[in-house]
Amino acid sequence: MTACVASVAAVPASADVPLYKRAGAPAEQRAEDLLKRMTLHEKIGQMGQVAVTRIQGDCEWSGGALNETCMKTVLGDYAAGSILSGGGMPPASNTPKAWAELVNAVQKYAVENSRLHIPVLYGVDAVHGHNNVLGATVFPHQIGMGATWDPGTVEDSAAATARAVAATGIDWNFSPVADLSRDQRWGRYYETYSEDPLLAGTLAASTVKGTEQANGAKEVAASVKHFAGYSEPFNGHDRAPADVSMRYLQDTLLPPYKQAIQAGAKTVMVNSGAVNGVPATASTYLLTKVLRDQWGFKGVAVSDWEDVRALQTRYKIAADYPEAIALAVNAGVDMAMEPYFAKDWSEGLKAAVDRGLVSERRINQSVKRILALKFELGLFENPYVDPAKADAAVLGTDKDLARKAATESQVLLRNEGGTLPLSASAKKIVVAGSYADDINNQVGGWTIGWQGVPAGVKIPGTTVLKGIQEAAGAGTQVVHAKTADEAVAQAADADVTVVVVGEKAGAEGPADNPRPELTADQQALVKSLKQTGKPVVTVVLAGRPLVLGDAADTQALLMSWLPGSEGGHAVADVLFGKANPGGRLPVSWPKALGNDPLYYQQLPGTNGGPESQYHALYPFGAGLSYTSYSFDGITLDKPSVRAGDKVNLQVKVSNTGSRDGDLVVPVYVSRPTSDVLAPSRKLVAFTKVHLKAGEQQTVRLTVRPNVLAVTPGDIDGAGTQRVERGAYTFTAGEKTAGLTVR
Ligand code: GLC
Repeated sequence: MTACVASVAAVPASADVPLYKRAGAPAEQRAEDLLKRMTLHEKIGQMGQVAVTRIQGDCEWSGGALNETCMKTVLGDYAAGSILSGGGMPPASNTPKAWAELVNAVQKYAVENSRLHIPVLYGVDAVHGHNNVLGATVFPHQIGMGATWDPGTVEDSAAATARAVAATGIDWNFSPVADLSRDQRWGRYYETYSEDPLLAGTLAASTVKGTEQANGAKEVAASVKHFAGYSEPFNGHDRAPADVSMRYLQDTLLPPYKQAIQAGAKTVMVNSGAVNGVPATASTYLLTKVLRDQWGFKGVAVSDWEDVRALQTRYKIAADYPEAIALAVNAGVDMAMEPYFAKDWSEGLKAAVDRGLVSERRINQSVKRILALKFELGLFENPYVDPAKADAAVLGTDKDLARKAATESQVLLRNEGGTLPLSASAKKIVVAGSYADDINNQVGGWTIGWQGVPAGVKIPGTTVLKGIQEAAGAGTQVVHAKTADEAVAQAADADVTVVVVGEKAGAEGPADNPRPELTADQQALVKSLKQTGKPVVTVVLAGRPLVLGDAADTQALLMSWLPGSEGGHAVADVLFGKANPGGRLPVSWPKALGNDPLYYQQLPGTNGGPESQYHALYPFGAGLSYTSYSFDGITLDKPSVRAGDKVNLQVKVSNTGSRDGDLVVPVYVSRPTSDVLAPSRKLVAFTKVHLKAGEQQTVRLTVRPNVLAVTPGDIDGAGTQRVERGAYTFTAGEKTAGLTVR
């Protein structure tokens, strides 16, 4: 369906023009005015979000061309306020132009067939580039972006993604994830930025800013997800319940969401899981007391996939659907991603109102937020984009930025005997491993399809093998060994073997892995290559640290995460020394299986076992470079501050080597004694600086009081967060400085 339409002309402000039609009026006032003109049926429809497959083809799962009959049902009869393409769900042909035509057509139908001509919000998961669209540049997944420790690169990448998303007519991106990666078994580990609340929150905030300030063809709203506590499934399996203390919730889990929301996020997506026995979707504590009353969030809270119905069918805290809807709406859900049946949603919420379970006042509150969002995004004046511009705006755009991000994300963890960078005079390099030439597993899940690139679909991109082949000098033979035997045979007269290992693409529960380790065949391959006596470089393409076994002590080890379509160039740039690796682990790397969850902020215990303490193969923040650095000093502006004051400090760092490089400068805090248990160190500030060879710089950093605050009191965690008085030690590198909080 082709709909190439101009934007709707803004209506001039004049007395007989309804306020809601006045483009210059404040969004909240326009929403208030429009709300008054709506029927209850129309209001209820605004709170429903439906999957696009329900208005394509067979109106269930077939996809394909839009189907007018089911568009009438979903957008006409039941006036759904939003449509989403969840985990793929492309138009009949997966091109940017076809996406723009699809979204325009959905928008046009909604605007022309609703009594008050209300446009829809269209949502998508563009979580590493506009990843559902064939031919779009695929960025590194969040875990790799976390390894950059670079808010600027993260913000730029989010802005590039938002511009691509907007070019296809989409105005809502379900990104960033502000959950924490603390359990390597969890299938969504790679969708997070870090195990650390400050690193994760800072980068999530950068993503919000990049997304919502991208200045693309349309405004795009970000969605901070999955609020809250989603990343703590008790057994490491996705959406398994979490049981956490109020202290852990308040001091560790909530801060990254708060930081991202305070960056201006227009929406929040709710955690599918339960926390302390209550599904987040039904939690008034989370969705009203914390999100609204404490944090002052004014945007839209959307539930996750079919989670309102889950209150009845999975969690069994509601006897029927109207009751489930009432629990969710009264807790604070504004829009329900009830993706299958617009009719059920409409009739269910109406029944809840008729039973007196939900007030129209509560409905008005949500609908006003939804309408205000639509006014803020300019959808009433600019509901459409020009499909003719979409291909040029999406296909292969921002490759350089994606390559820069992927390169910055590379974390060099071992480099014995200067194996890397590879010598330009190398005569023969063997590239082995089943992931060496596998773009689909290199980009990971949430690419074209929910679980990753579907079989038979070919996406553009550069694999590690191709990257090495392009980067190698003319005198260097690059051999791709497709089997272990071939790799061993070819290694005999090679200078070095690069073995690329990893894990299969996947998403959510299907990507859970109770044994996050290199498979036996991968370990056997590495072992056989080590036995050749030639240097072995292990490159890991995975969304989480894998227990390495035999690969743990190869001469070199490079963690490349899921580096995206430009990842092959990024890996090759580091291997050949064109780029000096600057990535640092945003997570902890386990030495052995069975110690999940593993994170550096583990609290002290009295347990005596060798693996009971923080037992990482590589700790949070680890990473090597082709140059060397020194942390020369840390000084605090004041030796003491009042509780609640910022702490200003400066750190002196030097590049003591022979190559320019980018250095992450983290500052940690520790407590000689504390009122409640404190981790041995906690990240409280960081930056990243470029240092020329031999250069020394002094960087200034500020530690915000909320980063030092803890929940005092007893096991019940009933206290209010505050900065404890007493002694603090700030550390940068090996240098320390003492502070007294009075
Ligand atoms: C999924 C995910 C969520 C995503 C949504 C729409 O189940 O939990 O992250 O945004 O559905 O695709």
